[in-house]
Amino acid sequence: MEKREHWGSKIGFVMAAAGSAVGLGNIWKFPYTAGNNGGGAFVLIYLLFVIFIGFSVMLTEFAVGRRSQLSAVGAYKSVDRRWAFSGVLGVLSGFLIMGFYPVVGGWALAYVFKTLGGLLNDPAAIGDTFGGFITNPTIPLAWMVVYLLLNVVIVARGISKGIEMAGKILMPILFGILILIAVKGLTLPGSAAGLEFLFKPDFTVVTGGTVLAALGQAFFSLSLGMGCMITYGSYLNKKENLAQNAAIVTAMDTGVAILAGIAMFPAMFAFGMEPAAGPGLVFVVVPSLFAEMTGGFLFATLFFVALTVAALTSSVSLLEVVVAYLIDEKEFTRKKAVVAASSVMAVLCVLASISLGGLGPKLFGFGAFDVFDLLTDKIFLAIGGMLLCIFAGWRLKKEDLLDEITNGGTIKFAAFNVWYILVKFIIPITVAIVAFKGVQSGFDGGSGPIMVIGLVIIALFAAISKKL
Ligand code: PHE
Repeated sequence: MEKREHWGSKIGFVMAAAGSAVGLGNIWKFPYTAGNNGGGAFVLIYLLFVIFIGFSVMLTEFAVGRRSQLSAVGAYKSVDRRWAFSGVLGVLSGFLIMGFYPVVGGWALAYVFKTLGGLLNDPAAIGDTFGGFITNPTIPLAWMVVYLLLNVVIVARGISKGIEMAGKILMPILFGILILIAVKGLTLPGSAAGLEFLFKPDFTVVTGGTVLAALGQAFFSLSLGMGCMITYGSYLNKKENLAQNAAIVTAMDTGVAILAGIAMFPAMFAFGMEPAAGPGLVFVVVPSLFAEMTGGFLFATLFFVALTVAALTSSVSLLEVVVAYLIDEKEFTRKKAVVAASSVMAVLCVLASISLGGLGPKLFGFGAFDVFDLLTDKIFLAIGGMLLCIFAGWRLKKEDLLDEITNGGTIKFAAFNVWYILVKFIIPITVAIVAFKGVQSGFDGGSGPIMVIGLVIIALFAAISKKL
C-alpha cells in the first residue's frame, strides 16, 4: 500500500479544516436558520452546543482519524465491524449533503456574474430575481454543474496539492470581505434592531424544533458527524496538537457565523425586511444593501466571490469523504472515485434544484432539496456525532485516546477528563434527548415522518453493519 499522504504544513491543515467548516453553513444557512427560529435564543443555544458538544466531537474525530490513519468507514471497521455502519452513514450523509450543496454553490457562482451584469441597478426587482432564478427548471442546473466540476478538479488533484492550496489562498480573503460587509451594515440607520434580534434571547419562542435546529446547525457548520474531520485527521501527522487545532477551527467557524449574522441582520432591519425570509436571505439582503451605495456593486461582487470560495473549500471536503471511502475501502483510483461520486451527486442535485420549482418526486409533501437537508441536518449528523462519541467512549480504550490526544504523553491536554466525560456520557444523552424532542415537535410542522425515516435508515444500516 502507498504511504498515506500527509498535510504539507500545520497551517495547511488548520486552513483546510477551517475551510471545510466555514462555508454556506455559516454564511447562507446560519443567518436564515437563526431568522426562522426567532433570533437571539437560537443563537445562544447554538453557541452552547458549539462549545460543549462541537469542540469535543471535533477533537474526537481528529483523534479517531489520526489513530486509525483511515477514512471514516475504515476507522470504525478496523476496530469493530459492528461499528462500520457509523462510517457508512457518514458516506451517505456526504452524498446527501452534496445532493443540495452544489445547487446553492451554483447560485453563489451565478450571483458573481449577476451582480457584475447589473443586478443592483433595479433594487425593487432583487427579490423577484432570486425567486425566479432558483425556481427556473434549467438555468441553475448549468451553474450547479460548473460548480461541481470545480470540486472535481480540486479533489482529483489530491489532498495536499489541491485542497491545501485552495484553503491557504482563499480563506484569509473571505475573512477580510466579511468584516468589510459587517462594518458597512452597522453604519446604516436603524441597524441596532438587527443586533438586538440576533443577540437578545426570547425564550418564549423556543420549542423542541428550535433546539434540534440549533444542534443540527452546530454539527453542519463545524462539518461534524459524518466522518469529514475523521478523514482530515487521518492525513494529519503525529506531531500536531489535536486539541489546539480543534479549538482554532471551532473558534474560526463560529466567528464567521456570528460575523455573517452581524453582516446580515442590521442591514435587514434597516431596510425593514423580514428576518424569517428563508433561504433567499443572503442573496436578497446583500444585493439590496449594496444597491443603495455608490460603488456597492463591487462589494456585492466580492461578497459572492467569497461565498463561492467558502462553499468550495467545504464541498471539496464533503466530496473527499466519499472519495476517501471509495479509495480506502473499494480500491478505486482517486480519479475513478471522484468521477463516480460526483456523477451520483450531480443526479441528486438535479432533483434538488428542480424541486424548488415544484418539479420532481415528493416525500410527505417535501421536495428533494428539503428532504436531503432534513435528513442530514436534523438527523444523520447529530446521530452520527452521537454514535462517534459512544464508539470513542465505550469501545475505544481511554489510554489509547489519552495517548493519541497527548501525542504519546509529550504534550498536555488539561481538560482531558472533562472531555472524556462529555464524550462518554453527556453528549450521547444530550443528543438523544434533543433528537427525540425535535422529532416529536417535527410532527407539528410536517417534517416528523421524514426524520423518522432517517432514524429507520440508521437502524437498518446498524443491523447489516457486519456486511458493510
Ligand atoms: N461545514 C460546512 C458549511 O458550513 C458544510 C459541511 C458539512 C462540510 C459537513 C463538510 C461536512 O458549509
